[in-house]
Amino acid sequence: MITAYDAVTAPIADDAKVDIILVGDSVSNVCPGFDNSLPMTMAMMAHHLEAVARTRPRALLLVDMPFLSCDLGVEDAVHNAGDLMRRGAQGVKLEGGAKRVPVVRAMVDAEIPVMAHLGLTPQAIHRMGGLKVQGKSGRAAVELLEDALRLQDAGCCSVLMEDIPAELAARVTEELEVPTIGIGAGAGCSGQVLVFHDIVGLTPDRPPKFVRTYMNAFEEIGAALAKWSEDVREGSFPARQESFTLPEAAREALRHWHPASHPEDASRRAPDLAHA
Ligand code: KIV
Repeated sequence: MITAYDAVTAPIADDAKVDIILVGDSVSNVCPGFDNSLPMTMAMMAHHLEAVARTRPRALLLVDMPFLSCDLGVEDAVHNAGDLMRRGAQGVKLEGGAKRVPVVRAMVDAEIPVMAHLGLTPQAIHRMGGLKVQGKSGRAAVELLEDALRLQDAGCCSVLMEDIPAELAARVTEELEVPTIGIGAGAGCSGQVLVFHDIVGLTPDRPPKFVRTYMNAFEEIGAALAKWSEDVREGSFPARQESFTLPEAAREALRHWHPASHPEDASRRAPDLAHA
């Protein structure tokens, strides 16, 4: 699974044969440049989802339920998820543990596939006191395992685990029947997810420890733009093959044109307000 937020990156991810494209609310940090995912609204998520959906990916298309979209009652949550499904999502992902069970049940009843998100849940950044590895105490590890089982019982089709010890994620994966997806959760999950821009090196900040960066697109794209800029300045761009040719008749007309024979252009004269 990989994130994509627009019609440029989604086809690249899809061609790379990922199984799932996630329009994650991590878009908040990556595209508009917010510090966390809290500013994302339903309208903003819908905007990015629609851009990805228009590319008609072969991969399963999931979207994140943004901050507060599941907290104002079950009916409101189902309505919000349904709105995203109408815009092309094939399922939703929502953050939070066992407290989400009623919402998950109602969404699944409404034929909306739901992926749960446990461990580090970035929408709870302030409760967690920052983006920290979760599930490190005995109590927290057991609670996470039990939450995963409850969410599976409620009908979740998959459980995503973020930033938790690898051993805990492997144990949860072993106990569940549905597949798990990990990010910073070690190799024992059924699948993995990363943010597109982190994989290709497009995030200017140093990516977290769990990211593997496969290219430095920031530098490579920057070098291409710098070369183009240099070509423009030295006059080698655009070349003949990057320009359009004037048809012979137009060339002839230009050859015969002379400023002295040019009648005054009425359209360029200031309007005569006295006769208006
Ligand atoms: O918002 C997101 O992109 C996510 C993934 C990083 C798991 O939730």
